[in-house]
Amino acid sequence: MPRQLFVTTALPYANGNFHIGHIMEYIQADIWVRFQRMQGNAVNFVGADDTHGAPIMIAAEKAGKTPQQFVADIAAGRKPYLDGFHIAFDNWHSTDAPENHAMAQQIYRELKANGLISSKVIEQFFDPEKNMFLPDRFIKGECPKCHAKDQYGDNCEVCGSVYAPTDLINPYSALSGATPELKSSEHLFFQLSDPRCVAFLEQWTQDGRLQPEVANKVKEWFTVRTNPDGTTSEGLGDWDISRDAPYFGIEIPDSPGKYFYVWLDAPVGYLASLKNLLDKRGENYDAYMANPALEQYHFIGKDIVTFHTLFWPAMLKFSGRKTPDSVFVHGFLTVNNGEKMSKSRGTGLDPLKYLGLGMNPEWLRYYIAAKLSARNEDIDFNADDFMARVNSDLIGKYVNIASRAAGFLAKRFAGQLSALSADGEALTSAISSQKESITAMYEQREYAKALRETMLLTDRVNSFVDANKPWELAKQEGADARLQDVCSTCIEAFRLLSIYLKPVLPALVAQVEAFLNVSPLGFADADRLLGAGHTIGDYKHLMQRVDIKQLDALFEPPAQAEPAQAATETVVPGGEEIAPTITIDDFAKVDLRIARIVNCEPVEGSTKLLRLTLDAGEGRMRNVFSGIAANYTPEQLIGKLTVLVANLAPRKMKFGISEGMVLAASHADEKAQPGVYVLEPFPGAQPGMRIG
Ligand code: MSP
Ligand code: ZN
Repeated sequence: MPRQLFVTTALPYANGNFHIGHIMEYIQADIWVRFQRMQGNAVNFVGADDTHGAPIMIAAEKAGKTPQQFVADIAAGRKPYLDGFHIAFDNWHSTDAPENHAMAQQIYRELKANGLISSKVIEQFFDPEKNMFLPDRFIKGECPKCHAKDQYGDNCEVCGSVYAPTDLINPYSALSGATPELKSSEHLFFQLSDPRCVAFLEQWTQDGRLQPEVANKVKEWFTVRTNPDGTTSEGLGDWDISRDAPYFGIEIPDSPGKYFYVWLDAPVGYLASLKNLLDKRGENYDAYMANPALEQYHFIGKDIVTFHTLFWPAMLKFSGRKTPDSVFVHGFLTVNNGEKMSKSRGTGLDPLKYLGLGMNPEWLRYYIAAKLSARNEDIDFNADDFMARVNSDLIGKYVNIASRAAGFLAKRFAGQLSALSADGEALTSAISSQKESITAMYEQREYAKALRETMLLTDRVNSFVDANKPWELAKQEGADARLQDVCSTCIEAFRLLSIYLKPVLPALVAQVEAFLNVSPLGFADADRLLGAGHTIGDYKHLMQRVDIKQLDALFEPPAQAEPAQAATETVVPGGEEIAPTITIDDFAKVDLRIARIVNCEPVEGSTKLLRLTLDAGEGRMRNVFSGIAANYTPEQLIGKLTVLVANLAPRKMKFGISEGMVLAASHADEKAQPGVYVLEPFPGAQPGMRIG
């Protein structure tokens, strides 16, 4: 019987694009999902944007958008990342979708009916100018301990002390600068301290379903807990789940003006995304969830364990729902020994820039997999290590096996495999016999071990090649049969190794399947060989090596525009009179759009032009030639936003068709003031936005 699996990754805040930490989490989960599917198991793998909360509401206001617009714009930018890194979510949804509103409210009603919701009046800082209660991170003031100025409401970044916002000296609102007032308001609480919850959670978190280090950490929360004011108390505290208007969130039933705290409805988004998927397919959500054999897993980072191992299972349990089978916690990714990536900004390795530079997404998948274990340890992306692992292991050891054997088979034996002699049989059965242990490693999320094991097998195949030297056999009289046997052994071995690598390298192995002339490989295929008489297809080069220049470009800080030269002694601005007046309607005919430069390359045969690949949010790329090669290298432009004349008639040029024009500034007299300066919008602009 195939297993039924429901798998999620954490729902990213919809206040910024993905950073490399997000991509790492998706790669980890995607490998596991692909592995399960290769085992014949049925998986629904979903994600969604986490849209609610005060920070997003405030960011939207700053951007001059409604929160709905703001999060929709972020959602519109997700696809290139997910497609680009081969992350195969079955659905991507939003916590602001109707399914989530309905489900969060329903869960709340059930918790309430179960006697687990209480209310309490609490005092909080209120911004009298903005007319809203302030979350701790929007209150600043002087540290009560060390008197450092401008510290946040919950802890001091200078001396490290923890306190309540009310302890700050001269507090002020980070939103308006106003002095906050203490104001009381009724809040709703989920009573985690209820003996039923405590008993359930003690059992649920300690019954072996969680990683041991996670279970141990969680155990501490049952005995001691740290309060917001830095003091400690015994046991689980009740959880404040309400926020007062104005708040971008879901209204609490029968409590006018009150909204769910974002973390209440965020994990419900897992279920909402699944329901949305099943509805679209015409399947029944309730029936799916009622299947006692259904397994539910959440991949998350180590910073959000409390929410997923206490609040979330308790919400599910006491609203009469299925609780997760496990929560898989990973550590953080750092870049080149850098700091942990900032949650909102991310630093170091921009995933879109990586793709824009033409770097292979499967290099990153392989590298990350080669570092991941089942423990929640941090891992570091190190550029030198990355290049070494990809070039020497992935390409040098694995990809090369195919290239070493395929040519002889094609040229001398019309691509036909022969039977294997004893040494070939021994080698391939040694590889097949690792199936169970490699399967177990993937199941346990021990990807580093699975790849290490697979690479040891590639070493054995390469030793076999070196011992038998097909290139010499090819020159020997009467050695044809042995040559075919040796090369067939290599191809059979290569196929088996490809099975083991397929969860990590789905696109590469799809190419391999085409080359080998086989249908999509699963783990069960490791039990047999292709066999004598099978004909393989043409070998095409499978994968490029990492070029150091790509890594240099990837980590090169964004280029600073050169300072403009001093204005010349002329009253004619920019060396050119202002053009005759036009009407607003004339202007409106020009459709200017924000576009991302996803790729840029020199144009052979031209010293002036660069070829730009632009994403103007149209779901397709545009090819545009621009005469800016004297001022910019492709690396300076890739990943940046600029302005595109989107409705300019396409123009056929010597090098191809140019589908628009990017805006750049220059002086009319090139000699007096040389240089062309490409336009770049202020932060916040998104591809596809119209300029006007
Ligand atoms: N919105 C919440 C999650 C709600 S789940 C119902 C959130 N969002 S987040 O965008 O800040 O983080 C999303 C996921 O990315 C989390 O699992 C987080 O741990 C993970 N990561 C964020 N930075 C990371 C790294 N530098 N490295 C690895 N994972 C990282 O938290
Ligand atoms: Zn301090």
